[in-house]
Amino acid sequence: MLIAQISDLHLRACGRPLHGAIDTEAAVVACIDHLLRLHPRPNVVLATGDLVDLGRPEDYALLYDHLARLPMPVLLIPGNHDDRAGLAAAFADYAYMPRDGFIHYAIEDWPLRLLGLDTLLPGEMGGGLCAERLRWLADRLAEQPERPTLLFMHHPPFVTGIRFLDTPFVGAEAMAAIVRQHPQVRQIVCGHLHRAVHHSWAGTTAAIAPSVVYQMSLALNDGESFYLLNQPSAMSLYLWSGEGAPVGYLSLIGMTENRQMAEGRP
Ligand SMILES: [Fe+2]
Ligand SMILES: [Fe+2]
Repeated sequence: MLIAQISDLHLRACGRPLHGAIDTEAAVVACIDHLLRLHPRPNVVLATGDLVDLGRPEDYALLYDHLARLPMPVLLIPGNHDDRAGLAAAFADYAYMPRDGFIHYAIEDWPLRLLGLDTLLPGEMGGGLCAERLRWLADRLAEQPERPTLLFMHHPPFVTGIRFLDTPFVGAEAMAAIVRQHPQVRQIVCGHLHRAVHHSWAGTTAAIAPSVVYQMSLALNDGESFYLLNQPSAMSLYLWSGEGAPVGYLSLIGMTENRQMAEGRP
């Protein structure tokens, strides 16, 4: 089972470049072209929030049209730039999409169980899980404790060191306690930081995917804000073979992954 994770698309239907510099639609097209060129083709795509930049119906309509090129299921969850109701309405014909309320769901179609979490706190840049969402997570994990599971969410539940984005994750300790009780959680994948991050958290492996549209600076100093980096867009890939944790890869968009065999050994 091969999983692709695309994150932080920030798609804009208005045509005006994001931050005055970034053509988000061209980047989304390049991301989808890249997914279609991968061999083997991923079984499923996780789209981990900040799907559009301004949360308007026309942005989601444009995203819907672009994603329609993909032959595999795309699992969407919201980020802080998303509008929960607008996202649910635009993708109402995606079978897993909740009709109302939080956009969280369990996907049972593959050997690795996939739980999408909704960490959106409307009006906030940061995210978290309220008591209702924590209960949902605990209930889902309790119902299939033997089944290897991957959690996907927009906001990382851990401190990253990139301070302007380290707004405390609401419910982090409670979520960590739930995950620690459930060793079937083999991997957590997040977005929001626009760069690749790896961490060990609550007894499992956690990672943040880069953005498929633009990368942000490594702002580790006090008071430092972000600036855009001229670095390649990328996505994460996870190969699940049935044991332990999935193996994670970074795949640079626009770079070919499948080349002819080189002479000799690497
Ligand atoms: Fe983002
Ligand atoms: Fe975000």
